[in-house]
Amino acid sequence: MKKIAILTSGGDAPGMNNAVRSIVKTALAKGMEPYLVYEGYYGLHSGNIKLATEVNVDQYIAKGGTFIYSARFPEFKNPKIRLEAKKQLDNLGIEALVVIGGDGSYYGAQLLHEIGVKTMGLPGTIDNDITSSEFTIGFDTALNSIVENVDRIRDTMESHNRAAVVEVMGHGSGDLALFAGLATGAEVVVTSENIKSPKEIASIVKKQIKEMGKRSVIIIVSELIYDNLDKLSKTIEEFSGVVTRGMSLSHLQRGGVPTAMERVNSSLMGIKAVEYLIKGESGLAIGILNGKFTGTPILEALALPREDRHKFANIVNDLNQS
Ligand code: F6P
Repeated sequence: MKKIAILTSGGDAPGMNNAVRSIVKTALAKGMEPYLVYEGYYGLHSGNIKLATEVNVDQYIAKGGTFIYSARFPEFKNPKIRLEAKKQLDNLGIEALVVIGGDGSYYGAQLLHEIGVKTMGLPGTIDNDITSSEFTIGFDTALNSIVENVDRIRDTMESHNRAAVVEVMGHGSGDLALFAGLATGAEVVVTSENIKSPKEIASIVKKQIKEMGKRSVIIIVSELIYDNLDKLSKTIEEFSGVVTRGMSLSHLQRGGVPTAMERVNSSLMGIKAVEYLIKGESGLAIGILNGKFTGTPILEALALPREDRHKFANIVNDLNQS
């Protein structure tokens, strides 16, 4: 195999740049010609592809986002669009494609594998919801950003004897909320494993402030659970008697300089992807399983059940409320 391409797809994640860098450099070291596809599957379809040697990939080592940009491109579900995208690779003589993205992006890589493109998937999403990897690219950095911001919010809530509802991302996965909850001591953490009504949250807030004498209460909630943060905060305030503010950390948690572990894991996953391609493998999802960097067939990876976090959710809430 001589020519390979790389794309990033779906929500950007810190660490994507490190993965791209290590794929490019490993490929060059193995005598391959690496190409960069700009703007994900959208750019693949429109032929926005550049020789990687035209770019200094080292300059992005400490930068969040993805320097080859990303896009959401649902049109890729259309078989005709996929064949047209494959044609763009064929025209340049590119045989393999490494896709860095979430589960939707993995599915695209699987479908390309089925029509003869050699593909590898790298788990790039802050959500930590790719079951074939214990950690996804972007999760550690997003988690650290959430923790830093919740600590700041704690300072001001503590000064005013208030409660704060802080909404974090996750797209159905509660990992950002649960890990941040444990790391910050948030008194309430609400995820899909552990949904609480506004009145239930209010009674915990009341107990923490009025009976246990705490100066502040932090309530971390996963996105997509409550429709309206202001309404939720007002109801908590009304039933607890504690002034409550609501805020979403929104896209602030997705940008930012990748942490050291993010850079290390993303780089090692990138190297692994090239190694598998050299061995002639295709249709694999690269990830960390039991501490080892490994490849799982994408279809198998997508069907793996998510780890049950009910017990973890209870542990976090019990520990932080005691
Ligand atoms: O998948 C990553 C993610 O950040 C999710 O946590 C979130 O639900 C979604 O993307 C937001 O997407 P967008 O930036 O397109 O609004």
